[in-house]
Amino acid sequence: MGIVRFVGRGSEETVVEIGPDETILRAAWRSGVEIPTKCGGNGLCAWCTQTIRSGIEHVIGLPQYNPHDQDGKTRAKTCQMKVAEDGEVVIEP
Ligand code: FES
Repeated sequence: MGIVRFVGRGSEETVVEIGPDETILRAAWRSGVEIPTKCGGNGLCAWCTQTIRSGIEHVIGLPQYNPHDQDGKTRAKTCQMKVAEDGEVVIEP
């Protein structure tokens, strides 16, 4: 199992185990972390884009992953990211 840490949402950090077939967006929803979407997680709207604070080497990108730099930070669509087994990824808004 991989791990996703959602930080930067108030004072709390949410830590979620994520299976190999689950996207980071789905793991967020399952754990009560709100990430907006307009396309329902199909890679079309980019509303789910978040910052990858660390662990990008553990990200498995799906076809619409499209990571890009913005203000010196790497941002990408959470609906297009899975986490490698035993990897840990930290996500912030
Ligand atoms: S939810 Fe629309 S691109 Fe990710």
